[in-house]
Amino acid sequence: MSAVTHSDIALDVNGLRLEAVEGGCVLVPSLDLQIRRGEILGLVGESGSGKTLTCFGIAGLLPTGVRMTAGEIILDGQRIDNRSEKEWRAIRGGQIGMIFQDPLSSFNPVKTIGSILIESARRHQNLSKAEARALAIDILKSMHLPGSSACVDAYPHQLSGGQRQRAMIGLALINNPALLLADEPTTALDPTVQLQILALMRRKVSNSAGLMVTHDIAAAAAICDRLVVMLEGQIIEEGPTRTILSAPQHDFTRQLLAAAPIGTLTHGGGQ
Ligand SMILES: Nc1ncnc2c1ncn2[C@@H]1O[C@H](COP(=O)(O)OP(=O)(O)O)[C@@H](O)[C@H]1O
Ligand SMILES: [Mg+2]
Repeated sequence: MSAVTHSDIALDVNGLRLEAVEGGCVLVPSLDLQIRRGEILGLVGESGSGKTLTCFGIAGLLPTGVRMTAGEIILDGQRIDNRSEKEWRAIRGGQIGMIFQDPLSSFNPVKTIGSILIESARRHQNLSKAEARALAIDILKSMHLPGSSACVDAYPHQLSGGQRQRAMIGLALINNPALLLADEPTTALDPTVQLQILALMRRKVSNSAGLMVTHDIAAAAAICDRLVVMLEGQIIEEGPTRTILSAPQHDFTRQLLAAAPIGTLTHGGGQ
């Protein structure tokens, strides 16, 4: 196995501390994460353990009630947590692509899928309208959506949940991000559609790095190379997916595995 060099690391989170503004309650005391290029890391834990806040912290999208009070976030060797809102707008959608649980509420309902993709591609790349439209159609096709006008010119509510999530992955990847952040990307979908979407995400994260945040350890195990288990804002266990599935060290991890639907715990990750 070759040694890990600094340039292999896409995302490096050091000592991330998140506190509630009111009352100063510590939500995440000190979190360290590293994700290599081509790797998908799964952040799993029960509801309320701080997964979404961690994800939003990495994307510079903390809600007004929550503050990052210590730590640093380094993406592709550059510190990003101290950037201005204007710089963040260039990073999000550009270097960081994001997928959320509910694509219906994340897409602007009055814009067509195509126009949302075109707008993002033109904001981050130097493309003409026609070039951006061609790219949007290519991306939708690569997500196994019809590249036809039926999909490009459809409004978000006209697609099925699974189709919308495919379009959301397309939007997240259209500018070749260094990091793909996915918060509960399949939680709202039917089990069979979940598997298709997870397989698609796995194939698409090759030059970039992925962080998948979910309460569902089976969904994480299906695509993640490594898992980090979080309880009340702290990492209690981490390791290669195979190791965690076969020899979990912590009681809480064992509970998560026991609660996963029978037969779903297979490791489809890259290692
Ligand atoms: N805007 C906020 N202000 C204060 N506390 C918050 C806010 N958002 C979330 N929290 C608290 O932070 C903790 C972690 O929330 P979250 O990251 O959403 O958990 P998860 O995604 O793991 O279910 C919860 O206890 C929640 O109550
Ligand atoms: Mg959450």
